[in-house]
Amino acid sequence: MTRPTPAVHDRILSLPSTELPAYVYDLTALRAHASAVRDALPERVELYYAAKANPEPEILAALGPYVDGYEVSSGGELAHVAEAVPGRPLAFGGPGKTPQEVTAALAAGTGRFHVESEYELRMLAELARRVAPGRRVAVLPRVNLPVADGSLAGSSLAMGGRPTPFGMDPGQVGPVLAALTDGTYPQLELRGVHAHLASGLEAPAQVAVAESVVAWATGLGVRLDEVNVGGGMHVDYGDPERRFDWTAYGEGLARLTERHPELTLRIEPGRALTAYCGWYATEVLDVKHSHGEEFAVVRGGTHHLRTPATKGHDQPCSVLPVDAWPHPWPRPAADRERVTLAGQLCTPKDVLARRVPAAGLRAGDRVVFALAGAYAWNISHHDFLMHPRPGFHFLDATG
Ligand SMILES: Cc1ncc(COP(=O)(O)O)c(C=O)c1O
Repeated sequence: MTRPTPAVHDRILSLPSTELPAYVYDLTALRAHASAVRDALPERVELYYAAKANPEPEILAALGPYVDGYEVSSGGELAHVAEAVPGRPLAFGGPGKTPQEVTAALAAGTGRFHVESEYELRMLAELARRVAPGRRVAVLPRVNLPVADGSLAGSSLAMGGRPTPFGMDPGQVGPVLAALTDGTYPQLELRGVHAHLASGLEAPAQVAVAESVVAWATGLGVRLDEVNVGGGMHVDYGDPERRFDWTAYGEGLARLTERHPELTLRIEPGRALTAYCGWYATEVLDVKHSHGEEFAVVRGGTHHLRTPATKGHDQPCSVLPVDAWPHPWPRPAADRERVTLAGQLCTPKDVLARRVPAAGLRAGDRVVFALAGAYAWNISHHDFLMHPRPGFHFLDATG
């Protein structure tokens, strides 16, 4: 069970049930967390936020003072982030960029392009010539590197070190580096390299990955100013109080920057920055037994909070009991210790958490799901079954 922050708790209990489900974000907690992350990192490490984790404008703005920029992975994200946090540095990454997206990114003066293939480099060069003549465009080829043995073993989602559509095979980087340094593309400037190899790695594995990427990059024999070692810091949905060890990670990166004073290192976490600030609150509609198991059906479901379905975990949650029962019909209640929390969709996959300890859970009680601040609402299939959308609340103690 994971308790919401006091501000979130009070807001959820103050909402009428017709305003549930609701996403409630604690921006004050987000600021405190982002500030602690920033403080744990050495000065020469730049922190970009991967907007794909949660692009709500309020979240992007709250992170503003603590990040050096934002990583965007589509033309849509680029336009959205540029509007939400105008003037902030952007790095445009992601596979399968279209000519229209690249044109828009050039027209917007995007600071860095993470180039995913030789084809994309050629497209960028030609579009830069047409759209932004005379302007230097900073390029970081994205590489899919093999890393130190076992470093990616703990990953929940590996994008590198094995066959994937992401970035370039190291064997194909040679011609790209040559074209970027021999005058083939006079407008394009080789600024550095980019590697985002996996999600869900603990600090020691992240340090090992960063060391592998930097060792590879500095062995290329070309001048590089920046190495972006990606995001993917672990969030433990099974033990939400256990946080990624930013101090150990920062110390590892500090050793790396000391060895390479010529380089700026950059990281681009998403999940580990925003997961903790978001809560999905709902109420129990019905409680029933089925073949020896007890189920509570809640308002909403995985069409709002798809994270447990995509990651195959139980979303951590807690129950806020509500004693009032406004209806003339009897109130169903659980009589077993453990209850499976399902949503309103007509699919057995619509389960938010299985067999959670919730003895006595009743219809009308509220359930609050934690760690719903990243890859939650924005990755969910909202329109399936046409249930109403949740409300959104951004709590900010600073007003
Ligand atoms: C290129 C890139 N950078 C950063 C991230 C952020 O990863 P995470 O949210 O796991 O930190 C992702 C996630 O897929 C990504 O693809």
